[in-house]
Amino acid sequence: MSLALLSLAALCWNAAYPEPTIQCGSENGPSPEWKVQHALTPGDLRDLRVEPVKITVEPQEYSLLMNISWILRADASIRLLKATKICVTSKSNFQSYSCVRCNYTEAFQHQTRPSGRRWKFFYIGFPVELSTVYFIGAYNIPTANMNEDGPSLSANFTSPGCLDHIMKYKKKCIEEGSLWDPNITACKKNEKTVEVNFTTSPLGDRYLALIQNKAVLGFSTVWENKLTRTSVVIPVTGESEGAVVQLAPYFRTCGHDCIRHKGTVVLCPKKRLQNSLDNNDRTVLGGWLPLLMALLVVTWVLVVGIYLLQRHEKIKTTSFPATTILPPIKVLVVYPSEICFQHTVCYFTEFLESHCRSEVILEKWQKKKIAEMGPVQWLTTQKKAADRIIFLLSNDVNTVCDATCGKNEGSASENSQDLFPLAFNIFCSDLTSQICLHKYIVVYFREADTEDYSALNVCPKYHLMKEATAFCKELLHIKQHVSAGKRSQACHNC
Ligand SMILES: *[C@@H]1O[C@H](CO)[C@@H](O)[C@H](O)[C@H]1NC(C)=O
Ligand SMILES: *[C@@H]1O[C@H](CO)[C@@H](O)[C@H](O)[C@H]1NC(C)=O
Ligand SMILES: *[C@@H]1O[C@H](CO)[C@@H](O)[C@H](O)[C@H]1NC(C)=O
Ligand SMILES: *[C@@H]1O[C@H](CO)[C@@H](O)[C@H](O)[C@H]1NC(C)=O
Ligand SMILES: *[C@@H]1O[C@H](CO)[C@@H](O)[C@H](O)[C@H]1NC(C)=O
Repeated sequence: MSLALLSLAALCWNAAYPEPTIQCGSENGPSPEWKVQHALTPGDLRDLRVEPVKITVEPQEYSLLMNISWILRADASIRLLKATKICVTSKSNFQSYSCVRCNYTEAFQHQTRPSGRRWKFFYIGFPVELSTVYFIGAYNIPTANMNEDGPSLSANFTSPGCLDHIMKYKKKCIEEGSLWDPNITACKKNEKTVEVNFTTSPLGDRYLALIQNKAVLGFSTVWENKLTRTSVVIPVTGESEGAVVQLAPYFRTCGHDCIRHKGTVVLCPKKRLQNSLDNNDRTVLGGWLPLLMALLVVTWVLVVGIYLLQRHEKIKTTSFPATTILPPIKVLVVYPSEICFQHTVCYFTEFLESHCRSEVILEKWQKKKIAEMGPVQWLTTQKKAADRIIFLLSNDVNTVCDATCGKNEGSASENSQDLFPLAFNIFCSDLTSQICLHKYIVVYFREADTEDYSALNVCPKYHLMKEATAFCKELLHIKQHVSAGKRSQACHNC
């Protein structure tokens, strides 16, 4: 009985003082209240805040909006408050401006909530773009009269990029792999190899896995276009325990600039194979024995069958010439220091070694030798030793790449000088000689500006990966000439 009375009392209280809520709608033009003079107007807001929120539109599809919240001042002018207007200006490529008006459903009877806390409201709307600056202004209605300064409150909000825990749900970010978790595990199998496992994504078809502590110890490209767990064994030159695995994906929308992931190389667990074999010996053998017997019988029947067939048809087997395994060709790759080593040079080296039967000489991997011999001597020696010299050009200068490269190079970049201009000058005289010219190739990934090195225009030029096959042919073609002894005496000086 008393309970019923209590709830009745609560109902009456609510009916007498219904709590104001908000009803918001867009209002880009001036508010109707502007046109009327008001003797008294409400004060300004106490606080205004903005944060991005993720709203799930459909499974796997999200909308990123602003959650704009404001607090009203607890003073007597609150009784005059009818609405709050919020306007958002975005300053990205193009400027946009839009406003929303939130009407309070009831007049405010109290300066605070019944609990004693200040009145606080929030509005969710206004789409948030990536890395954009927004100016949010809010004022109370009725506003001050035409020629008076209206009270208002403003806030700045700079939306974060794809790395943010909310913004990563933006469609563009998802396409760049923001939700992809490669879950990298890596372990040192022995002194020479590291095993790396990771989950690939259907967003792309290629990954570069790089093992590095201070220097790059080894790397490998993985081709896979489905979501699956892959495993790759990477040869390394140096102590790999505790080294970092860097995984650079190449997804369709971000290419070289996708979000990269890192892992750490630990020691591989020692396999206790003997034990498990002992335990499973009997059951395994018991299960497999009949199958093995059947296989043996089938094989025997096959062998006898083939033997009889061959005898019957008296086939003369002609011996095919054994495919001669040609020695790899030595390729010296020179590149300007602006090129991102990890993206471009590593990738290119990997390509040469795995697809064009080449052994690559890189300045980066012979730092010690260069220091001993001096760069000029080193270049001259390498020029003699190399079958081909490739100028790797790229105008692919972007900040993301540079930042990563810079970080990983660390001290290395301080003591390394850019060998490219030096190489260019040393090799330049060859470029005017028809006999020596064959040694040089220019390769670029994106249309590069060769203006500074116009002498290179006489060299064959290849656009990778577009002209990968032609490039490889050109590279190996020379080797055949060389091995066929067509290399003229004069060319030994090239
Ligand atoms: C808010 O109030 C104004 C003035 O009474 C009215 O024109 C507007 O339609 C209202 N907006 C909403 C969303 O109710
Ligand atoms: C929006 O912000 C308000 C105030 O901070 C908070 O109470 C509310 O839960 C937020 N809404 C969402 C959907 O995050
Ligand atoms: C917002 O940013 C502008 C320009 O950067 C600055 O002048 C202004 O003071 C900032 N306003 C607030 C409320 O932080
Ligand atoms: C990552 O891989 C490990 C080992 O394969 C597995 O135990 C773990 O559950 C995976 N974590 C995630 C988040 O998929
Ligand atoms: C990688 O996966 C293979 C096969 O599942 C497994 O045997 C190996 O232990 C894994 N290695 C690492 C480093 O996780």
